[in-house]
Amino acid sequence: MQNDGSGRIVVHGLSKTFGQVAAVQNLSFVVEPGSVTGFLGPNGAGKTTTLRMVLGLVTPTAGVTTISGLPYEQLGNPARIVGAVLENEGFHPKRTARNHLRVYAAAIGMPDQRADEVLALVGLSGAANRKPGEFSLGMRQRLALATALLGNPQVLVLDEPANGLDPEGILWLRNFLRAYAREGRTVLVSSHLLSEVEQTIDQVVIISHGVTRYYGSLEQLRASRQSRVLVQSGDPNALANALREGGFTQLEMAPDGRVVVLGATRQQIGDLVAKSGLAVYGMEEDRADLEKLFFQLTNGQYSGAPYQAQQHYPPPPPGGGWGPPPQYQSPPGGYPQQQGPYQGWGGQR
Ligand SMILES: Nc1ncnc2c1ncn2[C@@H]1O[C@H](COP(=O)(O)OP(=O)(O)OP(=O)(O)O)[C@@H](O)[C@H]1O
Ligand SMILES: [Mg+2]
Repeated sequence: MQNDGSGRIVVHGLSKTFGQVAAVQNLSFVVEPGSVTGFLGPNGAGKTTTLRMVLGLVTPTAGVTTISGLPYEQLGNPARIVGAVLENEGFHPKRTARNHLRVYAAAIGMPDQRADEVLALVGLSGAANRKPGEFSLGMRQRLALATALLGNPQVLVLDEPANGLDPEGILWLRNFLRAYAREGRTVLVSSHLLSEVEQTIDQVVIISHGVTRYYGSLEQLRASRQSRVLVQSGDPNALANALREGGFTQLEMAPDGRVVVLGATRQQIGDLVAKSGLAVYGMEEDRADLEKLFFQLTNGQYSGAPYQAQQHYPPPPPGGGWGPPPQYQSPPGGYPQQQGPYQGWGGQR
């Protein structure tokens, strides 16, 4: 076997058992160069264990994992090929950020000046002379990423890199990873939040209890879910009638009075509305659906006990409040002035 230079990560039939715990079971996926893959699952799903196996830090019970065609241990100077950020990175308490990076740079044969380059890359130039012991969680994450970038690696493996980052930091990380992949490099990034990485990733591996629940593109995952479009209209009744006549019969009513259309795109609805001459003030595609699907795929794992509301709290709305709105059934002969528990549907305005 030899290094094929591709930067491709291959995980094949990977399993890891700790005593009675099957942490990872028969996991297989490929991360292509030039793309970002999200590795998602709830707490304890097996993400860190898998990434540690990819990085040669944990020996698999079964299966193989390779980078550029080789197991990590056989990569030669791996820090020049693979940069990694794992959970709970420790830093020397007495060294400044710059000195920490210089020590690591020297160890992998990179010049001193690389330390300042990576500090600038992660936005920590201003903290170069401070000690990581005084850093915030987000700053430590940035320093860990800077360390991973020292060798200008072809492959990045990051375990929950967004942990502790503020919204600006998350946006920065998103752009950084996308740009990194666009240069033809390989990025594998774990998270327990789909929404955190949704806009960054090209494909996704979702695991739960160490087992693959989904592996493929986000587009396919979305397509497997019927789309929902929420339409705000001056006359919801007329809109619902027009939609039904246009063949869109799966209609619901949102608590805020918007019409929820299932199985239609915004474009289809826009075209129909334009023909009907109805006033529409806004349309929104329901992005929460993907998150819901993620919960369904990974449900049950370490879910906490439901929160017991105090006596004086008002009862939750029908359906628990967070579920989908009740299916809107239009009775024969037109729409009533009031329907169900909500007041907004053609009723009081
Ligand atoms: N060294 C170990 N010894 C024993 N069990 C372990 C060890 N490492 C991980 N496990 C177990 O393997 C399972 C997967 O853990 P892992 O840390 O890979 O999950 P994770 O997906 O990274 O979770 P989190 O989102 O909380 O970081 C857990 O049940 C965990 O307790
Ligand atoms: Mg983990």
